Amino acid sequence: MSLLRDLEGVGADRFRGGYSRHVFTDPELQLRAWFTEQAQRRGLDVEQDRNGNLWAWWGTPGPDAVVTGSHLDSVPGGGAFDGPLGVVSALAAVDELRATGFRPRRPLAVVVFAEEEGGRFGVACLGSRLLTGAIAPERALKLTDPDGVTFGEAAARAGLEPERIGPDPDAVSRIGAFVELHVEQGKALEPLGRPVAIGSTIDPHGRWRLTFVGRGDHAGTAAMADRRDPMLPAARTVLAARSAAKAGTRATVGRLIPVPGGTNVVASRVDVWLDARSASEPGTREAVDEVIAAAQQAAADEGCEVEVREESFSGEVAFDPGLRDRFRGVLGDVPVLPTGAGHDAGVLAAHVPTGMLYVRNPTGVSHAPEEFATDEDCAAGVRALAAVLEELAG
Ligand code: GLV
Ligand code: MN
Ligand code: MN
Repeated sequence: MSLLRDLEGVGADRFRGGYSRHVFTDPELQLRAWFTEQAQRRGLDVEQDRNGNLWAWWGTPGPDAVVTGSHLDSVPGGGAFDGPLGVVSALAAVDELRATGFRPRRPLAVVVFAEEEGGRFGVACLGSRLLTGAIAPERALKLTDPDGVTFGEAAARAGLEPERIGPDPDAVSRIGAFVELHVEQGKALEPLGRPVAIGSTIDPHGRWRLTFVGRGDHAGTAAMADRRDPMLPAARTVLAARSAAKAGTRATVGRLIPVPGGTNVVASRVDVWLDARSASEPGTREAVDEVIAAAQQAAADEGCEVEVREESFSGEVAFDPGLRDRFRGVLGDVPVLPTGAGHDAGVLAAHVPTGMLYVRNPTGVSHAPEEFATDEDCAAGVRALAAVLEELAG
């Protein structure tokens, strides 16, 4: 897809492969500048809200707007499609609608949400959570990146006013409907031979941070029997996550940081992040409780302390059934898929009628460089999005 090709190379990560485009870092700011330029070229009016989300308006910003878009930030070493596909498809859908002479009766906006992945400050969908009041600004401002830079500091450097960060009911009240197009994360469409699907639900999911504290020491001289090595309970927690993940539950440790992190050093502290998801909230909580109990036992066995913090939790989301029916009215009998992936659409769904479209991913892989969609399927996604926007805004 040609608009997506414009972004190739921006934030390419030579160490991890794929892309690292974290909020308010150079690559992500470059993508924002690209978006602003593309939107202005189309005669859309671009504004940044007080939480760092970008809005490009076709028509006067106002109530009952039809809004579409996604995010431009990535996970560390992520794929090219998760986020950017929804943004470039929104711009391409505007082009497609314009080419047919369509004039929206309702204001239409393309939005780019900030820090959807939580790849820099740890809390996913930070921009949409702040917008809707799902996270307190006092907490968000204090979140830190791996270098100790706070969200407030990074936002100020990017030109935001930290004291204005927080719920923005005026911006929310303008949204009449929100539609997010996204690359499929999983492989349901390939066997069905279908390029596009409609979203039904998002599984409850969350992130927990377990901090194990022991005693740092010399790897060559500290007797094995005397050690209080936090890496041991950390390792047992990884195994506990795998065994807690039964019957459709997913539990993952994808990030673990030993401090100070030397080959010849017994760590003094290890931070472990647990990501857990399941079709039901009790199922998710049960798995997390099992992992936490195992972590506490493992810490006690090694003479270590453990502190557990829930960094974020998102309950089950069911997208608006009325909107889904209207999507099917214009798209026909396309598949309807649940997902285990979180999205800004999931945050918005608690406030405004919201729906999602997915574009087939033949690899089934996401959050990794193998994430993919063909040009033909991306074009089918743009046609589907344009048809849905025409239905909603016409
Ligand atoms: C976001 O992509 C998530 O599901 O974590
Ligand atoms: Mn993602
Ligand atoms: Mn995404």
